[in-house]
Amino acid sequence: MINLRTREEVKKIQKACIISAKALELAGSMCEDGVNTFEIDEAVRKFIISENARPNFLNYNGYPRSCCISVNDMVIHGIPTKRIILKRGDIVSIDVGAEYDGYNGDNAYTFVIGEVPKEVEKFVSVTENSLYNGIERALEGNRVGDISFTIQNIIQQHGYSIVREFVGHGVGENLHEEPEIPNFLDDIRFKGPRLVEGMVIAIEPMTTIEPTEIEQCEDGWGIKTKSNVLAAHFEHTVLITKHGPVALTLL
Ligand code: MF3
Ligand code: CO
Repeated sequence: MINLRTREEVKKIQKACIISAKALELAGSMCEDGVNTFEIDEAVRKFIISENARPNFLNYNGYPRSCCISVNDMVIHGIPTKRIILKRGDIVSIDVGAEYDGYNGDNAYTFVIGEVPKEVEKFVSVTENSLYNGIERALEGNRVGDISFTIQNIIQQHGYSIVREFVGHGVGENLHEEPEIPNFLDDIRFKGPRLVEGMVIAIEPMTTIEPTEIEQCEDGWGIKTKSNVLAAHFEHTVLITKHGPVALTLL
């Protein structure tokens, strides 16, 4: 079932999204050479709790930390650890969410440490751009597939690849709700559900700089590229309204 949110529910989701966005901003401000990913996670966890919210990734299906920090060839779900120390030239995808008064927010951003080659900068910025173009298609009357199609086209036009095994999702009382929001559309006859005012969805392109398979790490969580090529991930929680999409996790 796809939930449509009342004004009161939207207010709570909005609050959860602002906290999620501030947590992501804090995490990004800590992304420097020499910092380990565990310290970032600790700061994020403490911040979310200080805002009277709950880190909604923590214990989600047994996930052990408050955010996911996925470095370079890690696509998503990298578990923060003292063993991973950020260094110049890394690209670092951080995914974090908060629950406030029973409602959730979810967002992600790929940060760059120091200088990276022009091609890498371009890959990261095209992925971010695909998210914003996808959001622009989140119009009442459009279908989920209109978002998917736009994201896929932008990524593929530049020669990059979409990770297909993971998709965006509805957000509300649960972190993951219906509908699924894929980042690709293979058959325009199956565009999925229509977008309606009051729907809240997380749009989250996950991309790789070259075509590759992905594999799960031994920790049972981390998802990395098999060929070790770079991956990027951006995400916003978006509200559908009569007046157009609102990215609730945009500060
Ligand atoms: N935020 C991720 C998503 O975008 C979910 C992470 S769940 C966790 O869907 F368990 F890995 F934290
Ligand atoms: Co998400």
